[in-house]
Amino acid sequence: MTVAAERLDAPATSGEIVLRRMEKVYEGTQGAVRALLPVDLDIQAGQNVSIVGPSGCGKSTLMRMLAGLESITSGTAHIDGHRVSGPIPDVGIVFQRDLLLDWRTVIDNVMLPAEFRPSPHGTRERARQLLEQLGVGGFEDSYPYQLSGGMRQRVSIARALLCKPSMLFLDEPFSALDALTRDQMNVLFQEVQGEQNVSTLLITHSIAEAIFLADRVIVMSGRPGSVLDDIEINFPSPRTLALRETPEFTTIVSRIRTQFEKAGVFAA
Ligand SMILES: Nc1ncnc2c1ncn2[C@@H]1O[C@H](COP(=O)(O)OP(=O)(O)O)[C@@H](O)[C@H]1O
Ligand SMILES: [Mg+2]
Repeated sequence: MTVAAERLDAPATSGEIVLRRMEKVYEGTQGAVRALLPVDLDIQAGQNVSIVGPSGCGKSTLMRMLAGLESITSGTAHIDGHRVSGPIPDVGIVFQRDLLLDWRTVIDNVMLPAEFRPSPHGTRERARQLLEQLGVGGFEDSYPYQLSGGMRQRVSIARALLCKPSMLFLDEPFSALDALTRDQMNVLFQEVQGEQNVSTLLITHSIAEAIFLADRVIVMSGRPGSVLDDIEINFPSPRTLALRETPEFTTIVSRIRTQFEKAGVFAA
């Protein structure tokens, strides 16, 4: 039985992802760039998956194709049995750049998705609760320029969660943050993962972050990307930073590093 099947308020989409020989070739003025070799992948509903790989290996490309934001050169992607052919409403997305609108207050930034797609969940009440949960309660009426990078990213996560998506796709959401803030965000985010009942697909080049925030880690090779390893992560939640110091955790870190070394890739 999957986690999603046990949810009391199970949303329409549960987040089963199936990729079959999905690949990407960009046709540019400089010629063709093969960004991603054919990928086969099955992600069960409710799984929290991290994809870790070096810069340029096609991680963002893979996520953007899955989210319907980028065309698929060949092969297929299905979410809950529906073939992906355009943007998917039931997915919240967080990018490395927070993409907040400077002229809107924090709460009005969080409310943005509800303006594009009316949802019973898209209320100011929920927006406030999310900001509170993400540790930026009290900043509702501030403007983005008044916030630190970490706070801005908390706001963009709140925005992505507003309409209660069943899946959250995150592309290097914490990569622009300093190390301490990033650690804090890792701890906070895994609390939110549990409380919001959302399954996540996290793209990162940090091995520790990939393991800490997932119950499955997919390791990718350098460009053009292909899957090097697929590791089940069984640590119980909630997790604390002390987990990273345990032998069980460092064994998995070493395993991924070794995969990268064998593939001639610089390990993050
Ligand atoms: N729009 C584009 N046109 C041409 N090449 C691109 C485009 N977007 C990405 N690429 C290339 O595809 C490869 C994979 O990019 P990307 O998916 O952004 O990698 P990652 O997110 O793992 O760093 C890179 O070599 C990059 O330069
Ligand atoms: Mg990227």
